[in-house]
Amino acid sequence: MKTKAEAPTGLDELYFHELQDIYDAEKQLVNALPKMAQAAASPKLAAAFMDHLVQTQTHVERLESIFESLGIAKKGTYCPTMDGLIEEGQEMIEQDFEDATRDAGLIGAAQKVEHYEIAAYGTLIAHALRLGYTEDIGLLQQTLDEETQTDLLLSQLAESEGNAAADDGTVEHDEAEADDGADADGH
Ligand SMILES: [Fe+2]
Repeated sequence: MKTKAEAPTGLDELYFHELQDIYDAEKQLVNALPKMAQAAASPKLAAAFMDHLVQTQTHVERLESIFESLGIAKKGTYCPTMDGLIEEGQEMIEQDFEDATRDAGLIGAAQKVEHYEIAAYGTLIAHALRLGYTEDIGLLQQTLDEETQTDLLLSQLAESEGNAAADDGTVEHDEAEADDGADADGH
């Protein structure tokens, strides 16, 4: 059986810090996702953001239960990376883009968020394994799986929304007038 004594000194503290970092990141995302959903022109993209909001609230709760089982405070450490990634999404919202372009920008910003979280949870699982915190691993893996699924869904949406825009000519012609019917259908 792997014991904590086999892990390098300080890895516990690093693991706790990483948990507090992603806890803050998840909470920042809970605030940002409704704004991204509201800014999305595609109903499918808006729904994907709202579905991920529900998942993200669960990610926060899973981290809280890990803090509880480890006997450490349920507190976040400011995550500047998530702040910056959300800021990039906010810039997409504020740009005077046509709808399909703004949606493409929002998808890109959201995928950067997912990739950060995928990296963070992968690292947490590796450290939990090394430290022998086996009870944390299942919860962290569930969240990692949901982040991965969200990333895949966003890739599919980027493709289908891109095709919808191309079918409608909104991608090909710079001066195409806004056609509000273009984003309602998947194809
Ligand atoms: Fe998450």
